[in-house]
Amino acid sequence: MTRENWTSSIGFILASAGSAIGLGNIWKFPYMAGENGGGTFVLVYVLCVIFIGLPVMCSEMLIGRHTRRNIINAMGKIERLSANQNVRFVMSALSAGMAVAFATMHAWLPVVLALAGVYLFAKKGFAILGWVCTIVALAILSYYAVIGGWIVEYIRLSLTGTLVPEAVEGVAAEAVAKTSQTAFDAYIADPWRVLVGFVIFMAVTGWMLLGGIRAGIERMSKILMPLLFILLLVVIVRSVTLPGAYEGIEFLLKPTMDAFTPQVVLMALGQVFFSLSLGMAITVTYGSYLHKEHNILKAAGWVGVLDTCAALMAGLAIFPAVFAVGLAPSAGPGLIFGALPAVFDSMWLGPVWATCFFFMLFIAAVTSSVALLECGATVFIERLRRGHKRGSRRTAVLIGFVLCTVMGLLAVFSTADWSHMPWLGKAIEASMGDLAKGNWLDTLDNFASNWMLPFTALCTALLVGWGWTPRRAGRELLAQGEDWRIAPAIWGFLLRWVSPIGILLVFLYVAGFLDPILKKL
Ligand code: PHE
Repeated sequence: MTRENWTSSIGFILASAGSAIGLGNIWKFPYMAGENGGGTFVLVYVLCVIFIGLPVMCSEMLIGRHTRRNIINAMGKIERLSANQNVRFVMSALSAGMAVAFATMHAWLPVVLALAGVYLFAKKGFAILGWVCTIVALAILSYYAVIGGWIVEYIRLSLTGTLVPEAVEGVAAEAVAKTSQTAFDAYIADPWRVLVGFVIFMAVTGWMLLGGIRAGIERMSKILMPLLFILLLVVIVRSVTLPGAYEGIEFLLKPTMDAFTPQVVLMALGQVFFSLSLGMAITVTYGSYLHKEHNILKAAGWVGVLDTCAALMAGLAIFPAVFAVGLAPSAGPGLIFGALPAVFDSMWLGPVWATCFFFMLFIAAVTSSVALLECGATVFIERLRRGHKRGSRRTAVLIGFVLCTVMGLLAVFSTADWSHMPWLGKAIEASMGDLAKGNWLDTLDNFASNWMLPFTALCTALLVGWGWTPRRAGRELLAQGEDWRIAPAIWGFLLRWVSPIGILLVFLYVAGFLDPILKKL
């Protein structure tokens, strides 16, 4: 292999890791682990990455590289290549199954969506899957940007030295953590303050896509991402040396049988797709930049390892501190905003570290949000064609931007609770049934990440595994000229059997359909 290929392979891995590593790792992973039994969640998560996430990631990269189109045309093209034209009816059947599962949870809006899916899959086939991926990506961006906005606010707080309110400076870490948590709760309860950060974050995302400084940011993120890892290490060192930290390490790394519930498994599965950027058209798009000389297995493996390391490191940075300062690990989305200020406060040059940390987190979040908006935009560009003219990039980005901003407002105004929009709160509780959480951000996140992502991933696995088939697709898995049969064979097996059955079992488990069997065991 020539030197050049090697370098560009690394470039691809770093770019994909840049899209994968984001708020999902540092903000979401720790609080999900905290809410779902710590070590048990982590163990299930890692197993899901290996047996379900990675095979699906390889498939998405393959689809992208083979078709080199936007997601909707790509899915359609792979379907036409399929040996088996009936996969689309399997899709309809799955959609019907989802409708039943949602009905048991009284989630009527999702039931309607799933029923529409039954019809659309049968009629239009896999292009619909492309649309679903795009819509899910935009929906996720709408609240991702709200969290991005929180980070903007925390950069401001650390820059002005007010991350930790003056009154408590120099007192015990416990008190600092309590005040930071209260300050965070007060912050998200004030929608106008949240709005500022959200708008700034969305504006930076849109501007980056339009202004063409994308390349610059990507180059910058190649330096900043490794720095983020180093900074995480620094925080870990401080966090594990706090008195009482050991309990946190144990919580994160020691699985217990009692914590093992259907909910934990579903959450871990959803988190795998969210964190690896799967099921949202992104990895397909990135895959289309891959050359034939690249080895997809290796690339996917590296992205998986880097992403999982980032998540575990974030856990190691947060939990020892959470336990040391007496916060509840199940504090939810505000976990890092309560715990981290206390860690920084106990460090020499705390405000400087804090500013750097939140800034890097901002960069990591922006590289991800740009990717999310981009996939919507690419679809709109190709679909806004008039005659032979392609739609303009500007209009496409604008449409995506406006859609996400309007949807994001819902999350902004309901992050604390529904008190700013009580009528909407009632409507959502009625239409989302058991999927509804106390606010729109958590409700949408629950629906999009824990239900839609595993569903789109399951469809992708079936399309590639049973339609295109590993025998034909697998030839492209390795770099040209490489002959290493066993790996594609293992991938094919995982993709055909292990990933789809795994995802299906989790769905059945959560909907309670496995209870009678489990009781007998
Ligand atoms: N994987 C990203 C994260 O962990 C989120 C994301 C999903 C980014 C999809 C881009 C596309 O934060």
